[in-house]
Amino acid sequence: MSDEALMPSEVRRKVLSQHREIEQMLSELEAGVAHLADGKVDAGQVKRAAYALRGILELHMSFEEAHMVPAINEADGFGPERVRHLHAEHAEQRQELDRLVDQIREASSTDDLAASVERLADMLRSDIEEEEREYVNEKLLRDNLIPSDTFGG
Ligand SMILES: [Fe+2]
Ligand SMILES: [Fe+2]
Repeated sequence: MSDEALMPSEVRRKVLSQHREIEQMLSELEAGVAHLADGKVDAGQVKRAAYALRGILELHMSFEEAHMVPAINEADGFGPERVRHLHAEHAEQRQELDRLVDQIREASSTDDLAASVERLADMLRSDIEEEEREYVNEKLLRDNLIPSDTFGG
């Protein structure tokens, strides 16, 4: 992961595009579950896709912490408050993600597996929606704020 500071608008674009990729992976995971019945997909494939998704999500959250957190922190007077909230949300999401991926790993029937995948997909879609409402928008992540070092030299 790059240490280079990104412009807020660039952070916004990248986070949004990662969200769309995650949603795409969720849809593929659900399509996989739908094919468990006809045998085109087996439980092992669905489980492996879920582990892969967890890896992608960890990278995504690390990206947000490295790049979105600094941008939000400086966006306005509520920055530090929002940053605390984002870290708390991520801590909760990591816990919930571990719990759900464990459930997926341990699922012993197609119904169990389908239900766990559905819970995971519901959670991630609502997290993404909330995050975009609260942080990943043009109100908060925009470039027209003058950086303080312009004056500081
Ligand atoms: Fe996040
Ligand atoms: Fe996110």
